[in-house]
Amino acid sequence: MNEPTQNVKVRPLQIEDLKEARRINDFWFKGTTVRFGFCGRLRFFCQYVLASLGLRLDFLWVVAELENQIVGFAVYEVCRKEIHIARFGVDPEKLRMGIGTKMMQWLIKESASRNKRIVVLEARETAFPALCFYKSMGFKTAKIIHRFYSDTNEGAHFMKLTL
Ligand SMILES: CC(C)(COP(=O)(O)OP(=O)(O)OC[C@H]1O[C@@H](n2cnc3c(N)ncnc32)[C@H](O)[C@@H]1OP(=O)(O)O)[C@@H](O)C(=O)NCCC(=O)NCCS
Repeated sequence: MNEPTQNVKVRPLQIEDLKEARRINDFWFKGTTVRFGFCGRLRFFCQYVLASLGLRLDFLWVVAELENQIVGFAVYEVCRKEIHIARFGVDPEKLRMGIGTKMMQWLIKESASRNKRIVVLEARETAFPALCFYKSMGFKTAKIIHRFYSDTNEGAHFMKLTL
């Protein structure tokens, strides 16, 4: 691993990181919308109600920091049996430096520390770098979800890593 990556620190997002994390989010994901089935919509509705009552906040943000700059972020939710990664992105100017690997290693540790042995995520069928990256981390495609992304009608690889 090269020198800069050794200095990457992965940690939970603090409020002052939000602007930078959103910059990366907007670069990769602006306009992304996904199509949920009935169960997915019901789950989101319940999460929304619980979060607005201050009872549970399921979506958690994590960031990668390098030399006081936010260079990556991920959003995940802790489900009953697994950790579901909802968003995952690295600064477009800092690709192939091992930052994604560091963030994923952090998430895998986080998963194990919460006694969740499964990590799942969806990746666009056409997102070649993301598919290569997740495969390099040991994820396998469990199924293809057709027309998952409602912005483009693209399908998603539903990927799974068992720890
Ligand atoms: C996918 C992504 C997170 C990878 O982050 P990264 O920091 O560049 O990844 P790493 O440097 O840790 O790469 C680890 C390995 O993944 C694979 N990989 C990463 N990017 C790749 C690419 N463009 N092409 C082929 N393989 C790739 C390689 O095996 C790489 O190891 P190597 O560099 O030694 O060959 C990054 O490209 C990204 O943010 N993409 C846009 C957002 C996105 O698609 N997110 C996923 C949404 S589901």
